[in-house]
Amino acid sequence: MSFLAESLQRIKPSATIAVSDKARALKAAGRDVIGLGAGEPDFDTPDNIKEAAIRAIKAGKTKYTAVDGIPELKAAVAAKFKRENHLDYKTDEISVGTGGKQVLFNALMATLNPGDEVVIPAPYWVSYPEIVALAGATPVTITTTLASGFKISPQALERAITPKTKWVIINSPSNPSGAAFSRAELKALTEVIARHEHVWVLTDDMYEHLTYDGFVFTTPVEIEPALKARTLTLNGVSKAYAMTGWRIGYGAGPAILIKAMAKLQSQSTTNPSSISQWAAVEALNGPQDFIPKNAEVFRQRRDLVVSMLNQADGISCPRPEGAFYVFPSCAGTIGRTTAKGTKLANDEDFVTALLEEEGVAVVHGSAFGLSPFFRISYATSTEALEEACARIQRFCAGLR
Ligand SMILES: Cc1ncc(COP(=O)(O)O)c(C=O)c1O
Repeated sequence: MSFLAESLQRIKPSATIAVSDKARALKAAGRDVIGLGAGEPDFDTPDNIKEAAIRAIKAGKTKYTAVDGIPELKAAVAAKFKRENHLDYKTDEISVGTGGKQVLFNALMATLNPGDEVVIPAPYWVSYPEIVALAGATPVTITTTLASGFKISPQALERAITPKTKWVIINSPSNPSGAAFSRAELKALTEVIARHEHVWVLTDDMYEHLTYDGFVFTTPVEIEPALKARTLTLNGVSKAYAMTGWRIGYGAGPAILIKAMAKLQSQSTTNPSSISQWAAVEALNGPQDFIPKNAEVFRQRRDLVVSMLNQADGISCPRPEGAFYVFPSCAGTIGRTTAKGTKLANDEDFVTALLEEEGVAVVHGSAFGLSPFFRISYATSTEALEEACARIQRFCAGLR
């Protein structure tokens, strides 16, 4: 019998973190590696936010705080929801955690029992099914296709919902596909969920500010106000404000859920870093003008990557609406043999050979529940992206 908990055997370590670790290790060993695995902006945190953190340290704001967020941050979050999403949330309907990931973890852990089902469209962010499994519940995936732009249909959603469904997870723009639902597409989905009164919505809006070509972002409660009583709207400062290391995420939902999440957090990490919370207050209340500027840089990189990947033999890459990922198909490379003699049986073989032979680190689609695909994060310099895509083209040209 293992000393380790059985619950731990139900989950896998994060594949995206594993790829980043591997790329870092190869680089440290002197290899020329371009890492396109990490899901974080390469931009620096804006100075006004850093200065707010320094002020907080100097002012001695370095003690324990309220478990799920200082009142000033909850007020800034409420103002953000009002300003950007036209939603009204009170302080007891807002929870702040150590990253969006902890808020998600709290919500699922606080609500799931063995036997419960959580509907998750695939490809999905790696943490959704793993946290559901850790809670002893069952992830129910809805597989999408490249042809549908990696978007689920209302019919498929209807079929996936059972009396055991507790949550439906919506993530738009999506990690890993970058796909984002238009208002009409989201409305069709919220109509299905509205009919099933026992089903709650967990909408992960982490990439809200990273959309392109005039795309208009909407969130389920904005479209279907009746769902407010059973929706957790998750967001955070990590991606939009280039603050991944600060570890601040937040969610808004019914007070009963928020209270249960705080109870769980009070017995695990207590409050998120007091200093990071003050930085997040400045992020949300301070100037927002750099966000569209960063988004424009991301759009140019997306267009570069999509165009170069579509020139690689065996690769087909759609042009997503948002986030900083593309999710190309490598179906045309499967069954072929690399220049160095490795047979590619699946997308994991593809990414392993690409890293070993060309020094480009990407993440296999199977980690996100859909094969044969791979994910590229284009949140890195244009020069690095050009070089990485040229190497992918060379790798593909060498296939027999
Ligand atoms: C879809 C999605 N949700 C949530 C998160 C969590 O973000 P945080 O760094 O705030 O925990 C990520 C981070 O990669 C993400 O991609």
